Amino acid sequence: MTQRMTLIGAGRMGSALAGGWLKAGFGGAIDIIDPHASEAVQAWADRGDVRLNPDVAAADILVIAVKPQVFGDLAERIAERVVPETQVLSVMAGVSLSTLQAKLGTDRVARAMPNTPGLVGKGVTILCTRPDTGEDTIALLRDLLTPLGAVEGPISEDLLPAATAISGCGPAYGFLLAEVMATAGVKHGLDADFAMRLARKTVEGAGALMEAAPEDAATLRKNVTSPNGVTQAALEVLMSPKAMPSLFDEAVGAAIARDIALSKETE
Ligand SMILES: NC(=O)c1ccc[n+]([C@@H]2O[C@H](COP(=O)([O-])OP(=O)(O)OC[C@H]3O[C@@H](n4cnc5c(N)ncnc54)[C@H](OP(=O)(O)O)[C@@H]3O)[C@@H](O)[C@H]2O)c1
Repeated sequence: MTQRMTLIGAGRMGSALAGGWLKAGFGGAIDIIDPHASEAVQAWADRGDVRLNPDVAAADILVIAVKPQVFGDLAERIAERVVPETQVLSVMAGVSLSTLQAKLGTDRVARAMPNTPGLVGKGVTILCTRPDTGEDTIALLRDLLTPLGAVEGPISEDLLPAATAISGCGPAYGFLLAEVMATAGVKHGLDADFAMRLARKTVEGAGALMEAAPEDAATLRKNVTSPNGVTQAALEVLMSPKAMPSLFDEAVGAAIARDIALSKETE
């Protein structure tokens, strides 16, 4: 089926999505609205793959990928593109389904929470729909998000802050792990660049191994932990109840609280 698609905001996430739709041979017309489109987006328009900033037209699918802070001012203009058939998909953090419904004047709204590895097709995106969303629509929304990597859900909106605290914020936890590992290496005598190369490649490699291996994370960890060995000595420190388990519990709790507070600000 040919669909008229409009993407509002072609920054990092929006471009990653649109690039994936073009690669997958999306069967329809793609309109991209972005006042300062990147050279890559301009090149798609020059080739006739997309229409850049055309006149306002109704969309079958409207994907919103602008920053949440600009959505408030933009909502009225976005609503001009919404007709009763339009399915809206927002990837904006912290803008609730009810805010989307109220500002765009339609019940056909869905949210997704991608994460940064989505920019290289290795993300995990959480889909969040209203309870009355049909299976066909869910399948369509999942297809639209596939360029970013794995798609999880749909989940109910009350679980989104907790899910966001894991996968939305999670890449930062992974980067932090590389940082603190390197810092510890420096403290114990390694050259800073060398320590960072080791830490970075190790975090990358652990992720790649986890992706390739059928075992779960705990089994992979046990597989590299010889009894009474060097790794076990380190893990006894990291895994003591006061260390990583309680720190992560606290960190995820703080992320959830902040997510809920930010959502209230965009209502
Ligand atoms: N990046 C992530 O990892 C991530 C993860 C989860 C959720 N998200 C969500 O994804 C959304 C986009 O994030 P992003 O990282 O892609 O941000 P971004 O790179 O700043 O992209 C936003 C784009 O929207 C454009 N824009 C600004 N005003 C506009 C308008 N009036 N009409 C149309 N386009 C307009 C911006 O142009 P200018 O640059 O010229 O202002 C920019 O190209 C955000 O709501 C964010 O919460 C992102």
